[in-house]
Amino acid sequence: MPQDSAPPLLYDAPPAPPAESSGEPSAAAGAPAHQAAFDWLETARAERQRVGLVRTLRPRPADSPLLDLASNDYLGLARHPEVTHGAAEAAHRWGAGATGSRLVTGSTELHDRLEEELAAFCGFEAALVLSSGYAANLAAVTALTGPGTLVVSDAGNHASLIDGCRLSRARTEIAAHADPDAVRTALTGHDGRALVVTDAVFSVDGDAAPLPALAAACRSRGAALLVDDAHGLGVLGEGGRGALSAAGLAGDGDVVATMTLSKSLGSQGGAVLGPARVIEHLVNTARTFIFDTGLAPAAAGGALAALRLLAREPHRAARAGEVARTLHARLTAAGLAAVRPDAAVVSVRAPSPDAAVRWAADCRAAGLAVGCFRPPSVPDGISRLRLTARGDLTDGQIDRAVGIIVATAPAD
Ligand SMILES: Cc1ncc(COP(=O)(O)O)c(C=O)c1O
Repeated sequence: MPQDSAPPLLYDAPPAPPAESSGEPSAAAGAPAHQAAFDWLETARAERQRVGLVRTLRPRPADSPLLDLASNDYLGLARHPEVTHGAAEAAHRWGAGATGSRLVTGSTELHDRLEEELAAFCGFEAALVLSSGYAANLAAVTALTGPGTLVVSDAGNHASLIDGCRLSRARTEIAAHADPDAVRTALTGHDGRALVVTDAVFSVDGDAAPLPALAAACRSRGAALLVDDAHGLGVLGEGGRGALSAAGLAGDGDVVATMTLSKSLGSQGGAVLGPARVIEHLVNTARTFIFDTGLAPAAAGGALAALRLLAREPHRAARAGEVARTLHARLTAAGLAAVRPDAAVVSVRAPSPDAAVRWAADCRAAGLAVGCFRPPSVPDGISRLRLTARGDLTDGQIDRAVGIIVATAPAD
């Protein structure tokens, strides 16, 4: 490259590939036999197409003109200048990567600070930060269970909790959704260690788990309670301290919380919060903590900046709930079947997977990004639009979003 030409930015479009063939053998006729090893994928793809469940990636430009009700940026902090500055400053100071696993070189003073402030904010004794909320759930479930343990898991739990149960080698009983009596029954007669796992707010319908009743069920049988507060942090509880704080359970000796830093905090990463002895046990035994590179400093710095912003400006949490209730009221008044939101997720039913996909596409064409859930992501087979009631939406933006969703709604 000539010295005087500026290097392309990382996110510029790459140059077009040369038109000529590279000379590599193709998978078509005459290809070597070993290239048939993945031919079964064609059958799988045809089946996805047949049932209308093809998923595609849609890279978004940095300056998307769409009104966003699809992301998990509940408080609109992902692009807040304090948060992006916190991320950039951390990258400059600590490096682009954590450089190693947390137990080797991947723990910085920044990770330590974030863990301390996150635990204090949410009302827990200690916290441990991991590279994602997914990894946090795998860590917590597997480290706190094992062969001989009984795990009771809500039927509507997030995939990462489900995968934690699968990896745990514990006996897992699936309890009816948000049903403390079902949990109590599942625990009855079990002698050894037991762990009840639930989302605090369920990702699909945005409904909340009955945490006080679940804790009572656990306590009546000596079981521990693990709650994934991915959708509660930043939205529920005083100033967004989360669902466990709201339920008066934060900091209790038999309660553990997991969280993601990628939703309300607008960053990336996950965390487990609980009694110090639980966190110490995870540091020593949780495989997704031990055998994983530490959270990138930029993600830790962004999350810490967002946490401090939230602590300083508690009204942000309440506004997300208010937007959710407004969206729900306006959409149901227009005749749509929306589930009453307990946090910042508003779920609107669609008549079929195809109708949901078309509805979301029509919204997009009209300038509105919405989420679209359909089987197999939804265990009950009901397809939905999933709306994020971002706390930074203006009343005008809410009007516009409701107008588009109602105007594009399928006839049934
Ligand atoms: C309930 C729940 N738990 C865990 C996760 C995983 O978090 P992360 O995206 O940080 O891996 C998600 C995120 O999508 C979620 O919705």
